[in-house]
Amino acid sequence: MNNVPYLAGVTSLDDEQPWQEIPVKGDLPDWLEGTLLRNGPAVFEVGERTYNHWFDGLAMLRAFSIRDGTVRFGARYLRTKSFAQAMESGTIARSEFATDPCRTLFGRIMSIFRPAITDNANINITRLADEFVAMTETPIPVRFDPETLKTLGPVTFDDDVRGDLTTAHPHHDAATGTLYNYLTKLGRTSSYRLFRIDSPSRKRELIASLEVDRPAYMHSFGLSERYLIVTEFPFVVNPLRLAFSGKPFITNYQWQPERGTRFHVFDRDTGKQVGTWEGPPCFAFHHVNAFEMESTLYVDIATYPDARIVEQLYLENLREGDKDLHPGKLHRFALSPHATDARREVLSEVGLELPRINYARRNGLPYTYVWGAGNRKPGHFTDQLVKIDVRTGEAILWYEEGTYPGEPVFVSRPDAAAEDDGLVLSVVLDAARDASFLLVLDARSLTEIARARVPVALPFSFHGQFLRNEEVVDLHR
Ligand SMILES: [Fe+2]
Repeated sequence: MNNVPYLAGVTSLDDEQPWQEIPVKGDLPDWLEGTLLRNGPAVFEVGERTYNHWFDGLAMLRAFSIRDGTVRFGARYLRTKSFAQAMESGTIARSEFATDPCRTLFGRIMSIFRPAITDNANINITRLADEFVAMTETPIPVRFDPETLKTLGPVTFDDDVRGDLTTAHPHHDAATGTLYNYLTKLGRTSSYRLFRIDSPSRKRELIASLEVDRPAYMHSFGLSERYLIVTEFPFVVNPLRLAFSGKPFITNYQWQPERGTRFHVFDRDTGKQVGTWEGPPCFAFHHVNAFEMESTLYVDIATYPDARIVEQLYLENLREGDKDLHPGKLHRFALSPHATDARREVLSEVGLELPRINYARRNGLPYTYVWGAGNRKPGHFTDQLVKIDVRTGEAILWYEEGTYPGEPVFVSRPDAAAEDDGLVLSVVLDAARDASFLLVLDARSLTEIARARVPVALPFSFHGQFLRNEEVVDLHR
């Protein structure tokens, strides 16, 4: 038996939560008006079967609507085909990150030719044209109504751009609203296919395509003022093996450190590949930021020494507790025009995952602050929030015994002058009370402004966005 204190964070939530006002302790500032939307897995068992990995669970949208110092909360499952088929059949129906459906021999053969791609969009939220969508790493964003959390169905793109995998961390140009992302096309010839969507269209326009023999697992990418940076970690797959192995998706990927980490850099406007730099082998989920200074391109990433973190995030491991489970560390890679190797330096020794910046003002530009989740007690998952000054490496921490905070979303004060003038919002699990709360901190000092208690313990979510007056303020990836 296990008894990790954060168990409720990786346990199914069996009921949707109707919109309800929840009690607030502290004083929320008048200017904080809008909705924090969060996405993440919330159903880890279907019938007799259990999903294998934290990334597999069926999606639930959670929302905190803040107005006049009060908070209303609600949560609903994302009604995807994956969800509907699971509920109707009483078993896992589609392949997820690390779980396959239980298939008969006939079903297995059929699924090779007609794979039921999951639309379980449990990772992130963004805006596309005039709608809000939930996203995962299959290219099937799912539309939803941010006021009711009602699922509206898959996005139909106005193009014929094809691909098999994507990232749930698109970038946005703050000035134009253009969205950038890429698809990985798998096949006898595989390629990374970078595209843009000019607001308010639903048309993906190819910017560049790079053929690749062994595609890497990549969860995000970098964007600077002029460039798109595809960081190819040496966690790669043979596409034919992926198609025919009959094993869950991520188990087909292999760690090949001899490849190093390759930074493929493309001009955002022309699509021209300006170069490939190679750095030491590492793995990461999240780019933090990228920027150009004196002809050198800097790429900041929360990295791990290898891809073992993928194993560590299997539900079985998370529920048992793993003293070796550490968040990533913030590294800066310098890509200089005079070199082909990427120079690496550590910016802070403080662990960092689920990083957020003042995206609206500083993405793609030199910046000073990153907020994120971190770890204090070995084996205690994410049990603190951090704010790192990337120029000095100094960190400020928020910590409260027995609580487990998720990604801190930065919300700028209106007309703020300073990069860190605002609040960070995080959904925190309070293990002793077996309930979650919305935590509102001063983004400068990480001191508490207010908290609002949720009536249930929410499973940990991955990513979220804050909407102010129907707009996503921080269109972070
Ligand atoms: Fe992510």
